[in-house]
Amino acid sequence: MSKAKLRIAIVGNGGISGFHASHLVQFDDVEFVGMMDIRREKAVARAESVGGAPVYDEYVDMLDKAKPDVLYICVPPDQHGTIEREAIARNIPFLVEKPMALNMTLAHEIRDLVAAKGLVTAVGFQDRYLDIIAQTKKLLENRTVGLVDGAWLGGIPGAYWWSTYATSGGQIVEQNIHLFDMLRYLFGEPEKVYCSGMKGIVKREGYDLHDYSSAVVTMKSGVIATLFTGCYLSRNVPNKNGLHIRCVDADIRYILRQSVTLDTGAMQQTWLKQVDQGVTEDRIFLDAVRAGDPTMVKSPYADACKSLALTLACNESMATGKEVFL
Ligand SMILES: NC(=O)c1ccc[n+]([C@@H]2O[C@H](COP(=O)([O-])OP(=O)(O)OC[C@H]3O[C@@H](n4cnc5c(N)ncnc54)[C@H](O)[C@@H]3O)[C@@H](O)[C@H]2O)c1
Repeated sequence: MSKAKLRIAIVGNGGISGFHASHLVQFDDVEFVGMMDIRREKAVARAESVGGAPVYDEYVDMLDKAKPDVLYICVPPDQHGTIEREAIARNIPFLVEKPMALNMTLAHEIRDLVAAKGLVTAVGFQDRYLDIIAQTKKLLENRTVGLVDGAWLGGIPGAYWWSTYATSGGQIVEQNIHLFDMLRYLFGEPEKVYCSGMKGIVKREGYDLHDYSSAVVTMKSGVIATLFTGCYLSRNVPNKNGLHIRCVDADIRYILRQSVTLDTGAMQQTWLKQVDQGVTEDRIFLDAVRAGDPTMVKSPYADACKSLALTLACNESMATGKEVFL
């Protein structure tokens, strides 16, 4: 695609759309041709935040009239399906936020429709674009890893759809999916998972999630990773999320979106995050669209399906009390 400006439309204009819009406004080869949200005021606010853009009440109308080159799909986890189908039918490349579905039937349907058209897609696994994750990959070259542990702990996010399985998929699927995806990015494909979850600390009307869980993921490589997930912490409780990688000859600590530290006993070195991974994520996606090359994206839809499957397997394991093979 050799256009001077890429025409961008966004459906769903809440928090994460602001994240992407704040990067996109930094690029001089984009123009915003449509904003749409079921709460019109959100679309109006997003349009204002990017210096003006047409606001639509229906996304199909937006796709047909605005004719975007690229669609950002930033709706809650339970709102996926028809938006993607309509975009694919019109050959519009899209970046969709994780989790891209709450069941694998839908995710695989979209994956296959995308593949049939050869469309460029991206899923919002921003951490894959971190310089400190590239550094972690480098540190892992020629090292043998046995055990990994990690955590994504915090409180209850403010999003109106977050507190029920039906609308968010739960904290593993909605939030800690970033670290489950990172396991795959660093250590290859999982073989099986066992996950135990508990309720009872968080008392909120309408909330039906597990307050905390522990998942043991056995990777095909032999690495065994234990990931904690929890949303019961009070605000301001000191807490460092990330991964702790136990190699034969070194200890590697990745602090989520902040740093990675190598400790061999003889020496210790820390690398701090230097780049804005969100900007890189959006730039690479747009460059891939321009090049018509789906492989430039670090998290294309088909690959992201495997991370989604792993997190949904955690939910299944919590529900059945059994190991789930991937
Ligand atoms: N990649 C990341 O790091 C990251 C970070 C935060 C959120 N997310 C993901 O982004 C998605 C959205 O999260 P958010 O924090 O922006 O939520 P949000 O509630 O702030 O925004 C979602 C917006 O979508 C609108 N919406 C709902 N249904 C719609 C529909 N059918 N059509 C059009 N608009 C619709 C809502 O009115 C709302 O304004 C979630 O899947 C979330 O997991 C990803």
